[in-house]
Amino acid sequence: MLETGIVTMEANDPIVEKVYEIYGQVVKAREPIRDPETMLKALREEYKLIVKPYIVYITIAAFLNNRPVLYEGPPGTGKTEIGEAILTLWSGKSAFILPCSENYDEYRVIGDFHPAMAMAKGFNEESFIPRPLLAALILDTGVLVDEIRRSSEEFQNMLLDIIDKRRIIVPELRRVYVQRGSGFQIIFTSNPLDIAQNELSDAFLRRVVRIEFKYPTIEEEYEILKLRLGDLIYKLSDDLISKALRVVRELRQKGIYKPGTADLVSWLTLTAILADSKKKEKAEPKDLYEAGLATLFKNPEDEDLAHELLK
Ligand SMILES: Nc1ncnc2c1ncn2[C@@H]1O[C@H](COP(=O)(O)OP(=O)(O)OP(=O)(O)O)[C@@H](O)[C@H]1O
Ligand SMILES: [Mg+2]
Repeated sequence: MLETGIVTMEANDPIVEKVYEIYGQVVKAREPIRDPETMLKALREEYKLIVKPYIVYITIAAFLNNRPVLYEGPPGTGKTEIGEAILTLWSGKSAFILPCSENYDEYRVIGDFHPAMAMAKGFNEESFIPRPLLAALILDTGVLVDEIRRSSEEFQNMLLDIIDKRRIIVPELRRVYVQRGSGFQIIFTSNPLDIAQNELSDAFLRRVVRIEFKYPTIEEEYEILKLRLGDLIYKLSDDLISKALRVVRELRQKGIYKPGTADLVSWLTLTAILADSKKKEKAEPKDLYEAGLATLFKNPEDEDLAHELLK
């Protein structure tokens, strides 16, 4: 016992047991990969992700330094999927994802008490429900804090404190949980251009290693399409693919809704499936057009531009 009267984590702690019981089933173990080149290969082969090497190198360097990372960039550039995959490979266990919203607080991410049980038995280990951030620290796995700008400043400050000190205090239980190994790493994602988002404080930005995500080059995006579409790519002629690559580029410049690589992949996947379901050998421009309207246009103001580009 420490002088403060707060107990640190013990092997037979009931909360630790609860975490294993609740989250053990969803957290899958795998061989960890910490070498950047091997990780790049695994990202491509196992996760179908083509990641720019600097992203992997800087992320790993930050983890070696026990520092959190912030992925910032436009929508659909793979921030969430790449972050989750890197955390999983790094720790050798499935990462947790915390999708942020305005009303996120410590009770949602650290833990809360079952109301009826707390009434009957008190605020103790029995009525406590551990949540993902505490679970990740105990299981020594990674956490992806998705869309951090959607959360409140209080929430961001609470996270900063945990990240700085690498420990979580649960005052009601008079317990402190400390980082157990190097698997507990954090990646934040954010899209600074998204409307109605909060600013990140200087204190926050000082602590994170920021990595900027950009749209891939045309060559990279074509590689991603081949990897993602698999055999479906044979339903698409080179002309059709070139046109799609061109259209998303125009829309990124001129449209209100800017399609990411994620949108391009869905567009062409849908086009190929449409052609297949119409029993066609190859997709036709009409299929590309129909699938395009269904996947790319989320803002009515883009309608004229959309029709012009797709025709
Ligand atoms: N580098 C990449 N390699 C492979 N697929 C990619 C890549 N970038 C984007 N994608 C495509 O986008 C999808 C993942 O996008 P993801 O949701 O992770 O992007 P995001 O940047 O988090 O977007 P948002 O800002 O909308 O949350 C993948 O399923 C894939 O179709
Ligand atoms: Mg995302």
